[in-house]
Amino acid sequence: MPFWSIGELLKASSDYLKRKKIDSPRLTAEVLLSHQLASDRVSLYLHFDSPINQGDLNGYRTLISRRATGEPLHYITGVREFWSMEFLVDPRVLIPRPETELLVECALKTAKDIDRQEEILILELGTGSGAVAVSIAKEIPDCRIWATDISTDALGVAKENAVRHGVENRIVLISGDLFGALVGRSSPLFDIILSNPPYVAEEEWDSLPREVKEHEPRPALDGGEKGMKFLAPIVRGAHEFLRPGGRLFLEMSPHQTEEIVSLLESSGIYDDIGRIMDYSGRYRLVTARKRKADAKTPKSKGL
Ligand SMILES: C[S@@+](CC[C@H](N)C(=O)[O-])C[C@H]1O[C@@H](n2cnc3c(N)ncnc32)[C@H](O)[C@@H]1O
Repeated sequence: MPFWSIGELLKASSDYLKRKKIDSPRLTAEVLLSHQLASDRVSLYLHFDSPINQGDLNGYRTLISRRATGEPLHYITGVREFWSMEFLVDPRVLIPRPETELLVECALKTAKDIDRQEEILILELGTGSGAVAVSIAKEIPDCRIWATDISTDALGVAKENAVRHGVENRIVLISGDLFGALVGRSSPLFDIILSNPPYVAEEEWDSLPREVKEHEPRPALDGGEKGMKFLAPIVRGAHEFLRPGGRLFLEMSPHQTEEIVSLLESSGIYDDIGRIMDYSGRYRLVTARKRKADAKTPKSKGL
């Protein structure tokens, strides 16, 4: 029986993925073959002419056909890199996006400026796989993060990731609807609240790539009318859970940032309101600081 070498198999499978219009076909073929062989991509090149055994060949064919029919690469391999760490992902959670690393970056910068003895308290609404919360917990040893999600399935994945990275003792995972998750828990006031809630506008749903629409959890993406179903209530509710001087960071679509900035400005509760660009030069985050004078829960003007 003829055998396939690693090199031949990579060539044939990447040509096949290319014909199926899969992005980055060569890279995908390499990632899937190293996943099948439980090795890394460099080893593929070190053993380029080595034959593949029949069991691995069959397993690899299955992986390639799953990808060719549109299943996301990271659900097939079960892992996604974020903030240079490996996170478990499966269809219970959204696959963390690179632009979301900006939330981590902003939280780290803000935390550096907090001059206090006690631990820094952070709230993440909609933690999904826990990628943001775990990355922050890894970087800031003296912080405690309350991470919520409406999906108990997602929280199961977040728990696994927190354990995997050894930060489970500093992440409190809570299920519930936005700030409703904190009701009755005598939660503290937070130094930082951050979220990348579902913000795809209902009217944009059909134009999403099939891969996203058909495989990632809709409740993790669908932001309702104009994508504001979660962003607006977070803006309205955050001040009750922020320390005076505490910071809010929200990720959203670039076209939503102006409306969120206006909401924050009209509230009279925040200062230092601004937009932050992602690495591709598009406004991606909105940030605001709860006014220091506002120690008590304020009566908002505009929220
Ligand atoms: C866009 S995903 C972000 C997940 C994660 N932060 C990440 O970047 O990978 C939004 C998350 O919000 C959660 N979510 C949706 N509706 C929610 C709600 N009403 N309250 C809390 N979380 C919610 C979803 O289950 C999902 O995990």
